[in-house]
Amino acid sequence: MAQINSITFDPPLINTSCAWASELHQLRELYDCVYIGGITTRTATLNGFNEDASNTVAFTKDSVSSINSYGYSPNPLHLYLEWVYSLLTTPNAKGDGPSKPIIISITSADDSELSEMVQQIQALRQKLHVEYEAKVSRPAIDPSTLIAVELNTSCPNIKDHPPPAYDFISLTSLLEVFANAFSVDSSLTFGLKLPPYMYSTLFDDAVSTLASFSKDNNSNPFAFITCTNTLGSSLLFEDQVLAPTAPGKFALPTSFGGLAGEALHSLALGNVYAFSQRFANHQSPAIRKIVVIGAGGVTRYDAVARMHAAGATIVGCATLLGKEGIGAFKLLTEKP
Ligand SMILES: Cc1cc2nc3c(=O)[nH]c(=O)nc-3n(C[C@H](O)[C@H](O)[C@H](O)COP(=O)(O)O)c2cc1C
Repeated sequence: MAQINSITFDPPLINTSCAWASELHQLRELYDCVYIGGITTRTATLNGFNEDASNTVAFTKDSVSSINSYGYSPNPLHLYLEWVYSLLTTPNAKGDGPSKPIIISITSADDSELSEMVQQIQALRQKLHVEYEAKVSRPAIDPSTLIAVELNTSCPNIKDHPPPAYDFISLTSLLEVFANAFSVDSSLTFGLKLPPYMYSTLFDDAVSTLASFSKDNNSNPFAFITCTNTLGSSLLFEDQVLAPTAPGKFALPTSFGGLAGEALHSLALGNVYAFSQRFANHQSPAIRKIVVIGAGGVTRYDAVARMHAAGATIVGCATLLGKEGIGAFKLLTEKP
């Protein structure tokens, strides 16, 4: 069991945001899976992303790795909010109210659009809370307390838009939107999806950027980070993957893509360890409280243990889910 603010993840295993958490039926299957303690939706934009045949994924032949050229979800935020409402208001098979948290992944390069997205999420939370309060016989948990928001700052596949987490000035401007929302309502749990960083001063800069939003030593708008996203500008040849998605010599029609799965595992572990050490040793209690969700190459039971040993409080996966379907989480849970 693990906590981010007052949100409980039991067990501390989730899916990270990905193409297999895109549609309602996929989210429902994830929500009902007993092996995971929370789910993450695919990254949504305000109005949906224009997807075409160049946005795709391929799995490697010789390891459980993937390369993908996806952007964001074609489904706009309002659809995810309808689906989250449905998941959080439908009793389970035993008739109990929902208790599993949902991390809503969102992104925008524009501060005012991002602000609009946060307001829409807050409106959903308010609606869930009011309906819950009005019930004569209330479920154990107020569903409005089960929502967290993850800002994806790290997709490597958006043409002419480098991931803002590699540019701390752009990142700061986006984070201000969350800091402002937090100053109005500190009950909303915010986190960041980060890209893989490759040298130590980048970790220092990321932590300083987060710390710059602390109001005092005990309060910071950011409750968690999820690291890492895929490694951009990666290249695989068609003979390295199970089903090439492009005619020609490369695995992807875009040639370049984001690498994930086992090929990313060491770098992801390094990122988790680098952040968890910096948080644990930080002078400010507000920063020491930030939870690390570890992702990247979690494809086996022992990889989950390695992520925890590196400092992850919660562990997530995407590639294994894509490859194995929902059975991925049983594989990660049961010692072989
Ligand atoms: C096909 C695919 C789509 C993804 N889409 C998203 C996304 O929409 N938003 C996001 O934050 N991360 C996305 N990711 C990154 C994953 O959440 C995860 O951080 C990364 O793949 C590393 O985990 P893994 O090794 O278990 O795949 C995607 C990954 C894959 C493979």
